[in-house]
Amino acid sequence: MVVVRAAAVVVVVAVAAAVVVVVVTITDPLSAQVHTDPLGTAAWNAVTHGVKRWVLFEPSTPKRIAPCRIYRPGEDTEAIMYFDFLLPRLKEAYPDVRCYEGLQHPGDLIFVPGDWWHGVLNLEDCVAVTQNY
Ligand SMILES: [Fe+2]
Repeated sequence: MVVVRAAAVVVVVAVAAAVVVVVVTITDPLSAQVHTDPLGTAAWNAVTHGVKRWVLFEPSTPKRIAPCRIYRPGEDTEAIMYFDFLLPRLKEAYPDVRCYEGLQHPGDLIFVPGDWWHGVLNLEDCVAVTQNY
């Protein structure tokens, strides 16, 4: 079964009596703000086309720091603002906070452990497959 919602395609695949839900995302450069996934779930994400920029923070990072919702005039909640402006300010203000950053290219798979803060910016149009569990 294939369900199309917004920019995501949800594919439900029956595999040996188990049902696996996989989300294929085809997204523009806007992406996702820093967040933790619901119910403490972990996730994996595999890119087939495009490049994603990721940032992750350990679960012990305070909620007031990782999402860093302190905006200046002209800034908004888009991920590009976070990566371009808020994240550099956060790292300067809290140099002891560990953040893990990297680029994900086609063929790369990233694992996001449960309760880890994470945000992603699609640097170009991307096609990816992801699953929370
Ligand atoms: Fe997420």
